[in-house]
Amino acid sequence: MITNLHIENFKSLADFDLPPNGLRLGEFTCLIGLNGSGKSTLLQAFDFLGQLAIGRMGEWLGQRGWKKSELACNLGKRSPIIKFQMVFHFDESDDVKWIGHFNTTLLRCTYELIEKNGAKLLEVNEGRLIVAKMDQRSPQVIEKSDLAYEGSVLSILQLKDAHSDVSRVKEVSQSLKSLELLSPHLLRKRATGADDIGVGGEKLAPFLDQLTGESHSQLQDRLREFYPHLEKWIVKGYRFGWKGLRVWENYSPGSVVDAAHLNDGMLRVIAILAQAYSRHKVLLFDEIENGVNPELVEKLVKSLMDLGENGKQVIVTTHSPMILNYIPDDVAREAVILLYKPADGRTRCVRFFDLPETQLKLRALGPGEVFVDTKLEDLVAHLPANHSKP
Ligand SMILES: Nc1ncnc2c1ncn2[C@@H]1O[C@H](COP(=O)(O)OP(=O)(O)OP(=O)(O)O)[C@@H](O)[C@H]1O
Ligand SMILES: [Mg+2]
Repeated sequence: MITNLHIENFKSLADFDLPPNGLRLGEFTCLIGLNGSGKSTLLQAFDFLGQLAIGRMGEWLGQRGWKKSELACNLGKRSPIIKFQMVFHFDESDDVKWIGHFNTTLLRCTYELIEKNGAKLLEVNEGRLIVAKMDQRSPQVIEKSDLAYEGSVLSILQLKDAHSDVSRVKEVSQSLKSLELLSPHLLRKRATGADDIGVGGEKLAPFLDQLTGESHSQLQDRLREFYPHLEKWIVKGYRFGWKGLRVWENYSPGSVVDAAHLNDGMLRVIAILAQAYSRHKVLLFDEIENGVNPELVEKLVKSLMDLGENGKQVIVTTHSPMILNYIPDDVAREAVILLYKPADGRTRCVRFFDLPETQLKLRALGPGEVFVDTKLEDLVAHLPANHSKP
């Protein structure tokens, strides 16, 4: 699990800590804030860090349609270096920190450090790689060469050479999954073989096709709780390996809907629920309420919480008071984080229910009601520019 993120110079995240003030993230986090406060940017930052561990940064930029020069913060003095520190907590063991300096021109980290309790498990500095041997405390230089890769050295590291905590940092980072661009248009499209859904939901049909029989029927049962008229779905194969989703609904016997005509809400809910069966350990969803009926929001929030209980870490953004209302008060106190931008344009954050005004209201109202009853513009106007500093 990721407990903390510090990032500098990534778009509007000029000097940003999640959560603020040395607190720790839990299994479920809900980001709120005005338009442009940096919620999507934060999900992009997580996706960026996950991609570092995979490598191929040029490809990642291409998929998003971004130029490398657009990654760095354009407020104030320009620097090509994005600095980050992610803290991981594995089982009952001590925290492991992954620190890096990513050069946006070279598209790779020129400095990296993974440490636990002050012991270096991996270090990259000036092209030199130092890795602690499997389960040994004192590191040894095992490689010194012109290393060629994009992103992080983790992307090319042979796990057999690495300390188990380094392997776990790599594994969790690579298993970050951002579905921040989930679009019905892409969810609907036929696609060829893939064991994963893309950032926009593309390749849903091939992903569903490779689920085991048990996962398939569990997922269908869960979806029926949302849409009782759903009878079943199949993934239909077409020529040259193309696959498409077909859904049977029980309005009249045998009514079949091709994904091309399936409703947007159901497609989004399928994609979200299906993540329970993916290899991803950290899941990010932007504007989770999009396309979902208000009556279904309670079930959606419960499904997200269940993902957390099943060993996945979930981070969502929302503008919906209803989403907040179905989060239990004790979870909401820790999990709801307000992002805001002071006049300097740099994203900051604060736990929403740590503020005196909202804390007081939460005694009498539900989390969503407090959200409705609070004018965010006024609230953030009084928040200090350095609130996120420990
Ligand atoms: N390179 C950059 N440097 C600094 N700020 C940037 C950079 N790129 C984008 N921004 C700013 O960051 C803002 C944050 O946008 P973001 O999409 O994260 O907001 P959001 O909270 O998701 O808003 P919404 O609720 O509308 O989805 C943008 O509006 C833009 O002003
Ligand atoms: Mg957004």
